[in-house]
Amino acid sequence: MAKILGIGTATLDIINTVEYYPTEDEERRALSQRRSVGGNCPNTLTVLQQLGHKCAFAGIVADDPDGQFIAQQLKLEGIKVNNCRVAKGKTPTSYITLSRATGTRTIVHYRTLPEFSFADFAKIKLSAFDWLHFEGRNITETLRMLTFVREKLPSLPWSVEIEKPRANIENLFEGATILLFSRHYAAYHGYAEAQTFLQELHSSLPHTEKVCAWGKEGAYALGDGGEIKHAPAFFPPQVVDTLGAGDTFNAGFLDARLRNHSLSESLALACQLAGRKCGQQGFKDLG
Ligand code: ADP
Ligand code: FRU
Repeated sequence: MAKILGIGTATLDIINTVEYYPTEDEERRALSQRRSVGGNCPNTLTVLQQLGHKCAFAGIVADDPDGQFIAQQLKLEGIKVNNCRVAKGKTPTSYITLSRATGTRTIVHYRTLPEFSFADFAKIKLSAFDWLHFEGRNITETLRMLTFVREKLPSLPWSVEIEKPRANIENLFEGATILLFSRHYAAYHGYAEAQTFLQELHSSLPHTEKVCAWGKEGAYALGDGGEIKHAPAFFPPQVVDTLGAGDTFNAGFLDARLRNHSLSESLALACQLAGRKCGQQGFKDLG
């Protein structure tokens, strides 16, 4: 069990389940609707907390009713929110269409809220944590956070999620113990397969564990040994909800590595957990 601090963005997810994904300009009635806390980091922490870790979230929470809902829900999950900063503004909101036919999730995201800054981060008592997990965003401020950790607490390990291609996101690679890449990021940079992508990163980052989830094809990783590892996806009886599959995969992988499973075992455990998640609504009962 580790004390984990996650730094990122919390969203309100408004999830409409529809029988089939609509065509443009169509009017369609949803089968059901739910509201839930979202955001890659909160989702990953929600799963890590269920897996037995003590998690805390650091991010901005808006001073509106949705912001209060987010803070309350995270607290109910057992996730600490005392390092969050409350700011004036509107809660970032994702409008999500979940197709019952295919399990796909289509996200339209709206945000105007400022991001968690280095000044906010510098107030946190970092020595209380065993692991830091960063969303790869807000690059200038996040880089200042990483530099600060490297200087002040050189033995505190961290992971960074590299999901969306953003200008200068590569500045966040150095010094991470684990980098969690998305297929989207690799594809954006012209890679048709994860193996070549990871191999090309290896020479500049030989001691960082590099992981890349690849949807239904499972996931790949490359660690110190320089050997590519692969685990196939785990297919549930029915794909119900793929929202946050990648976030669940990341939680499963971090949990497995924190428990000292090998790189191959960790990939397999992460794929199993993400697959189980795809077979159910939301993130309940993944522990
Ligand atoms: P994201 O949620 O970021 O789009 P991915 O699609 O890369 O993430 O999926 C992350 C992991 O979740 C994959 O490595 C795989 O193990 C699992 N996964 C994703 N989609 C499915 C699916 N349809 N069936 C089973 N497992 C899946
Ligand atoms: C899923 C998710 C949602 C959120 C969106 C933000 O991975 O974190 O919960 O609305 O992505 O990009």
